[in-house]
Amino acid sequence: MKRQLIYLLLFTLTTALFAQNTDESKVGTYVLPELLKSQSGEEINSAEKWNAIRRPEILKLFEDNVYGQVPKDFDKIEFKVLEQNKKALTGKATYKKVAIYVIRNKKIITILTDLFIPNNAKKPVPAFLVINHRGGETMNASPENEFWPAEEIINSGYAMAGFDVKDVAPDHKTDYVNQVLTRLYPEQMTQPSGMRALGAWGWGASRIIDYFETDKTIDAKKVIVVGHSRGGKAALWCGAQDERVAIAVSNESGNSGAKISRRNFGETVETITRVFPYWFVPKYATFANNENNLPIDQHMLLALMAPRAVYVASAADDGWADPKGQYLALVAAQPVFELFNFKTNLPENMPSNNVQEIQLPLGFHNRDGGHDMNLFDWRQFVKFADEYFKNNNNK
Ligand code: GCU
Repeated sequence: MKRQLIYLLLFTLTTALFAQNTDESKVGTYVLPELLKSQSGEEINSAEKWNAIRRPEILKLFEDNVYGQVPKDFDKIEFKVLEQNKKALTGKATYKKVAIYVIRNKKIITILTDLFIPNNAKKPVPAFLVINHRGGETMNASPENEFWPAEEIINSGYAMAGFDVKDVAPDHKTDYVNQVLTRLYPEQMTQPSGMRALGAWGWGASRIIDYFETDKTIDAKKVIVVGHSRGGKAALWCGAQDERVAIAVSNESGNSGAKISRRNFGETVETITRVFPYWFVPKYATFANNENNLPIDQHMLLALMAPRAVYVASAADDGWADPKGQYLALVAAQPVFELFNFKTNLPENMPSNNVQEIQLPLGFHNRDGGHDMNLFDWRQFVKFADEYFKNNNNK
């Protein structure tokens, strides 16, 4: 709880220090880069062409200009259950602490995962997996912990998992290199489009999915990667990269997450690259005050989830993350989902506060209140996941 307060304070301070436009009348106009035209000018009018031509192009543009590559190779991965309690949460769940060891060139890193699995499940369960930047102690299963409400999730028939990003890349300007980058992929640091912190966090989530694939109680085809704020940026990039992610949930991910960068409202590329340069490749900073020259915008990141599902959550008082800019990105991503025969038709205007909009495989809400991830948000994620898995043939 204390840690959450500190985060709230830091967040309020940053937003106050770097006052950005929050006046809708000053937003101005912008033109988004084309989703459905390839770099050579070809019309992308089918799912096949999207997968073969445009998707790889856009992934590469995000790698080179924003987040860096995500290395896929390592020599070995091993899992060890360090702790297990079959009577967790008053007997409703099995708790496991799992260590994931990833080895490359004789170097090793360890990612620790906290995992609760419902005991009454008759078949493997879908799992929420949180990319957690708020510290391991925020993954406690106490009923007051709305950020990671394990019991509520278990009661809804899902497993709940999470890991602390510090195991893969500490959230710190210089120390971020200390885990996966220095130990496993040192060459990434010398490459202009090598992996940086956000990419590393997504890489960590993928290793937990590797573990899920070996755990018979989990349905690894139904993994929902969730991230709040900076974690949400990482969750979207993870989902774009790793097609095993069934649903990517972005909670108030804002700038360089779900928000349209060209929309001059809330946090800008200038601020984010100045305050958090280590999240991105160095080239991203050249788009500070120059967003119109970005070869991508964030609607394209959401589109990379197609035909899988993406859920965008915002909070009405979280102007820094630009709720409307996040909604408009989802609207602008729709044409790609249409290529896969989803007839989504999101309203032009953002839905009223606290009203969930579901047009599978897309979902959105803008709740009352400020920057946080709480029970209201989680209940919407569960409703969305329930609907999606009920209707999706891949289940
Ligand atoms: C800062 C940062 C945001 C980020 C947020 C958070 O406010 O500017 O981009 O999303 O922290 O992670 O809480």
